[in-house]
Amino acid sequence: MTAVTSSRLSRLTIGLHWFIAIGFMALLVSGLIMENMDRGPAQFQLMNAHKSLGSLFFLVAAFRVGYRMLTGFPTELSNKPRWQASMAHGVHWVLLAATVLVPLSGIAMTLGNGFGYEVFGMTLVERGEPIVWLRDMGRAVHGAAPKVMIAVIVLHTVAAIRQQFVDGSLSRMLGR
Ligand code: HEM
Ligand code: HEM
Repeated sequence: MTAVTSSRLSRLTIGLHWFIAIGFMALLVSGLIMENMDRGPAQFQLMNAHKSLGSLFFLVAAFRVGYRMLTGFPTELSNKPRWQASMAHGVHWVLLAATVLVPLSGIAMTLGNGFGYEVFGMTLVERGEPIVWLRDMGRAVHGAAPKVMIAVIVLHTVAAIRQQFVDGSLSRMLGR
């Protein structure tokens, strides 16, 4: 299975990139809205949707990480200075890792709370005793990591727009 040729990306690579990019940003925004809402039925509904869609997102992100491991990252379209190439590669790794670690920390927090784990109305784990270390670890990561990711996503987006003028790599990610 080949991910890319030097000038084109597979439809799977492009589809996964935009599903994950839009999904991650939507979950991030919904989390920030939830954080600033008063407790009540509306917040509870949004949290249920956040948990269900976040769990679905996790499955697709885990598939994507596996696909990347098998096929490697897309080849570069132009020869960047060494520091720029290393930075782009580092940022891609951080983005990829965050797409699984952020939802995993949300799942850890949910399981640790002991209120049960439901997705799309299906109970995956029944209510039980809280697991304090899991809840606290999940909460610490889930509270901080998405906010750090805002800066990383801004950096990645600015770099992608800048790079478009150098070698058209944004057009390639848009399937053109
Ligand atoms: C890419 C996926 C996800 C992103 C970007 C994300 C982002 C966020 C953000 C920014 C917050 C607000 C942080 C805060 O309250 O301090 C939040 C809260 C929360 N998230 Fe996620 N989340 C994701 C996936 C998940 C998943 C899969 C679950 C659980 C199945 C989950 C469960 C929760 C819960 C329970 C809260 C509320 C925490 C509280 O009020 O104490 N999240 N999320
Ligand atoms: C509007 C926002 C975004 C734009 C414009 C954008 C654009 C791009 C472009 C043009 C590339 C190809 C770079 C190259 O060919 O050298 C790329 C790669 C990549 N992007 Fe984004 N991106 C965005 C958001 C995101 C988000 C939110 C994530 C993950 C949370 C993400 C994860 C990645 C990863 C991991 C790669 C490496 C290639 C791959 O694994 O498919 N991107 N992005």
